Amino acid sequence: MTSEATPAVGVEDRSAVVIGGTTGIGRAIALAFAETGADVIATSRSEDSVESVAAELRERGATTTEVTCDVRNRESIERLCEVAEDTFGSVNLLVNSAGSVAQASVVEMTEEEWERDIDVCLTGVFHACQVFGRAMTEGSIVNVSSMSAGQAREERPAYCAAKSGVNGLTRAAAADLAPEIRVNAIAPGFVKTPLAGEKLEDGSEFRETVDERTPMGRVAAPEEIAGSVIHLTSDTASFTTGQVLTVDGGYDISAQ
Ligand SMILES: NC(=O)c1ccc[n+]([C@@H]2O[C@H](COP(=O)([O-])OP(=O)(O)OC[C@H]3O[C@@H](n4cnc5c(N)ncnc54)[C@H](O)[C@@H]3O)[C@@H](O)[C@H]2O)c1
Repeated sequence: MTSEATPAVGVEDRSAVVIGGTTGIGRAIALAFAETGADVIATSRSEDSVESVAAELRERGATTTEVTCDVRNRESIERLCEVAEDTFGSVNLLVNSAGSVAQASVVEMTEEEWERDIDVCLTGVFHACQVFGRAMTEGSIVNVSSMSAGQAREERPAYCAAKSGVNGLTRAAAADLAPEIRVNAIAPGFVKTPLAGEKLEDGSEFRETVDERTPMGRVAAPEEIAGSVIHLTSDTASFTTGQVLTVDGGYDISAQ
């Protein structure tokens, strides 16, 4: 933290790990870190995607390395942390952006679908917070939650439960890891990414309904979520911890 009246806006000279960082919101966050001057590892399960984002990070001047990670496997998260420490010396910033959304009603969802969403969206975040929380001596963690944590979304019981859990985990972890490490969550509304899929394509019926209800009149680009993550991880948010920041163009506060 800086004691100057105007803190540094960026996250310069920081070392970041973005899990689920090779597509969509996570990739935008990783690239935003690199553009702000941080070194970054962006990881997911696919070697090809890890290599491709690593090239984009290097183009932006960041030091990085290529390592895959499956958040359903604790050892894989431990290996990621070791690789990150070997690469950077220490890690200051962690973003948990891996996601999985099974679509089935509560009476139709299979146990396998339930477990996958809970593993990827919640248990994986716990493991990452624990593994990196032990390794980091100072810094900031941001968990990517969802506006769905506070909503009754049809046919998304596991996802809604997992994201509610992420908000609770974020608050508890913030209390445990203060004052050295701040822990916050970001709760995006509708963002055009592979996870959102065709539902948000321009001109779809669902998209028109969302645009109409959203005071900003549109869905978000991944970079707009990344901007808020840069804020939460930077010294501009030096007294902010245990919070869930909703970034949804006003969707959640508009009339149902
Ligand atoms: N797109 C939206 O409208 C929206 C809204 C609210 C919240 N979110 C959240 O944002 C986060 C990112 O989603 P996105 O929309 O960018 O979609 P996305 O599909 O682009 O990103 C999800 C990422 O998670 C990775 N992933 C999935 N399972 C994994 C595993 N087992 N181990 C490691 N990585 C794994 C995928 O490879 C992918 O990179 C998710 O947590 C999602 O729930 C998205």
